[in-house]
Amino acid sequence: MSIETTGHDHDPFRIGCAVDADALDDPVYRQLIPRLFRLITPENAMKFVSLRPSRDVFDFAAADRVMELAEAEGLAVRGHTLAWHSQLSEWVGELPAGERADVLRDHIHTVVGRYSGRIEQWDVVNEPLDDDGAPRRTPWFEASGIDYIADAFRWAHEADPSARLFINDYNVEDLGEKSDAYYVLVQRLLAEGVPIHGFGAQGHRIVGDPPTTMRENLQRFADLGLQVALTEVDIRMPVGVDEASVACVNAADLERQASDYTTMVAAARAVPECTAFVLWGLSDGHSWIPETFAGFGAAHVLDGRLQPKPAFDAVFGEQAQAAVEVEAALP
Ligand code: G3I
Repeated sequence: MSIETTGHDHDPFRIGCAVDADALDDPVYRQLIPRLFRLITPENAMKFVSLRPSRDVFDFAAADRVMELAEAEGLAVRGHTLAWHSQLSEWVGELPAGERADVLRDHIHTVVGRYSGRIEQWDVVNEPLDDDGAPRRTPWFEASGIDYIADAFRWAHEADPSARLFINDYNVEDLGEKSDAYYVLVQRLLAEGVPIHGFGAQGHRIVGDPPTTMRENLQRFADLGLQVALTEVDIRMPVGVDEASVACVNAADLERQASDYTTMVAAARAVPECTAFVLWGLSDGHSWIPETFAGFGAAHVLDGRLQPKPAFDAVFGEQAQAAVEVEAALP
């Protein structure tokens, strides 16, 4: 296997990737990540349910594996995520609401404190608003109302003043009702002196439906003094089966996907304050999508055999001498 890529280390716009801690046992996966990316995000290893099997136990094993890769290879890290309604340990929901704020503060202090000075950006609060812009009724909201958002940012900043602290959500790439609500929320947080430093747009898209006003939308958050980032980009497409019952995709969709990635990279790059463009998965063989969206998949830049798709050059074209020669690395 040989990979020839040349990343421009001085370029503030970094292509990143979500890392599946379990996949690090695969030497090809482990080797590809640092060759292609300058920034990584643990896909699941730093989520509440991964870290907190019980109220009195913190399990950092998987998170530390991702950090070991990052620090061995000089990769920046986006920590993900501290306050979210999903992938929460069951015992949190069993707590009296009055105890949850203490649990969240202890969680954030402990987790952010453990990696203080080692994680560049944190998704402090993930998906706190519904698509209509109203606050999502999460276990944290039930306990403290909307103030849990400001509390979470303050606790994270107390634990690591050097980390850049982001609010993050999906369906906020373009101008619209939801991103407008974030624009109002972020301005209120800033006015209250809350240490919020970044706005993350996840970027989960369907082929043929690229964002159309993403540059303008991200730029308005940047004009508030924030960093912005594309934090979880993937572009799914319909996946069928051929007569041999082998999964297959439409060649036109692959080209359309490449065009959509090109559109998203260009819009993100056009915002000087955009510091990360994170792919939410290395390849179609390491993807959350098929289990979540039946009949869809093939969302990433490498296929299931780690071979580059047209989307690979769309993302890496100007950065990498994209000669990715990878044998069918997986058995
Ligand atoms: O760890 C368990 C394992 O013990 C068990 O045997 C296995 C079978 O059920 O499940 C494993 O947990 C899975 C986990 O990923 C780790 O692989 C969960 O079932 C599965 O639901 C979970 O999916 C993750 C999903 O978030 C959960 O909502 C995806 O990998 C992850 O890519 C996805 O990422 C989220 C971002 O964090 C936030 N934005 C949306 C994005 C997509 O949902």
